[in-house]
Amino acid sequence: MALWGARFSGGPAEAVFALSRSVHFDWRLAPYDIRSSLAHLSVLETSALVNKKDADAIRNALKALSTEVENGVFNPEPQDEDVHSALERGLTQKLGAVGGALRAGRSRNDQVTTDLRLFAIDHMLEIAAQLIQLNNAILNKASEYINDSAPGFTHIQHAQPVSFGHEIAKHAQAFARDLDRINDWFKRASVSSLGAGALAGSSLPLDPTFTAKNLGFDSVFANSIDAVSDRDYVAEALFIFATIGLHLSRIGEEWSLWASTEFAWAQVADEYSTGSSIMPQKKNPDMAELARGKSGRLIGNLVSVMTMLKALPFAYNRDLQEDKEPLFDSIDTLLLVLPAVTGMIATTNFDREKMALAAPTGFSLATEIADYLVRKNVPFAAAHEAAGTCVALCEKSGRELDQLSDDEFIKIHPSLDGGVRAVLNVSGALSSRTTAGGTAPVLVAAQIKDALALTATHSKKISDKQRAFSEMMSA
Ligand code: ARG
Repeated sequence: MALWGARFSGGPAEAVFALSRSVHFDWRLAPYDIRSSLAHLSVLETSALVNKKDADAIRNALKALSTEVENGVFNPEPQDEDVHSALERGLTQKLGAVGGALRAGRSRNDQVTTDLRLFAIDHMLEIAAQLIQLNNAILNKASEYINDSAPGFTHIQHAQPVSFGHEIAKHAQAFARDLDRINDWFKRASVSSLGAGALAGSSLPLDPTFTAKNLGFDSVFANSIDAVSDRDYVAEALFIFATIGLHLSRIGEEWSLWASTEFAWAQVADEYSTGSSIMPQKKNPDMAELARGKSGRLIGNLVSVMTMLKALPFAYNRDLQEDKEPLFDSIDTLLLVLPAVTGMIATTNFDREKMALAAPTGFSLATEIADYLVRKNVPFAAAHEAAGTCVALCEKSGRELDQLSDDEFIKIHPSLDGGVRAVLNVSGALSSRTTAGGTAPVLVAAQIKDALALTATHSKKISDKQRAFSEMMSA
């Protein structure tokens, strides 16, 4: 149904209609559009712009339409331009001319961004809930391996041994920051735009504060021109999604490496692996690779919206219609990837023995020699030099550090006695790293406990918000 046309002598050309049309992707805003129409209707009724009889009829028709949309009984038609025009068609089919009453004091410009804010909030909550599950899976997996050692890497070279629980738990910190970003995002996203009209507000006695409250928003717009043109909340959501994507892709990279034939640390469960159409022996970590690969489109969607917004004149311009598909795509992508990665992590088992055997190799305990000398008041530069000489000697003679003789140690540095062997073992090296956030297993256990508590706090906040949101939607 066309929402305009009286001042035109002819309808739009086919190509114009085809390019304008958005209902094939914005139809998913329908439940939010109906809900914000109900809020708008209350204001029109309170200010006597629509009489009670008509308001009741419109309210009932909107509710009926809502059920029909939900059940797939009412659908967009080829002649509908967008979600707003399709729903107004539904309303007028039920009510006749009265169905057009809702357009008073409202423009699609304030309507569409109100709907999109509601959509974004609803789905941000869903993503946050998925992130919480992911973090619980990470932290539970990490606690299984607190007392297991593995080589820690820098430059993908053995660096220093670490608790493998520490290695896994680090990912939970990244997602905790994402949850924090999400919490903060609500402040700027939960702002109602309804009542801004096309751009200048309204001469009718509307009540934007009432509609904001009615729709569960935390606050209401301060400048009607900004209200219809602001899409920061979309860009910011896309930044959060892209960052989650980066974190997922780094997990993907790590899991692929650990599951490789060469590493063979990780056994990814069959349900989270895929096979090859030609090589019957293959078991591939495709979930990890897709997590890594999907980050590309998450970053792309952010770039696409920011590029669209750059230098866009105020207030509403049709360019803004391009805000939706990237947002929808990032949300859909994450809602696919997050449960798959959560399942993959929860069901992966690691070869404790293989990791423990690898932990001291590659001279990863060389720093222990340097630290031993520092404790004997040798300046670090000289201690580093001595430890390096030990490594060179081992490399030449095909030995590990603890296989050097007392004589060899003393020859390298006068303070380097055989006592150093006491620190040349992985469990000693791990338990000595007791500085805050370090890899000592007692600290790793405490870190995991704190992270689980933080996740529980986030979980409570998110489920409270989810409850309030669904109550608002069904009001
Ligand atoms: N479908 C449009 C969008 O998504 C709705 C707003 C249209 N407003 C207008 N002035 N043409 O942005």
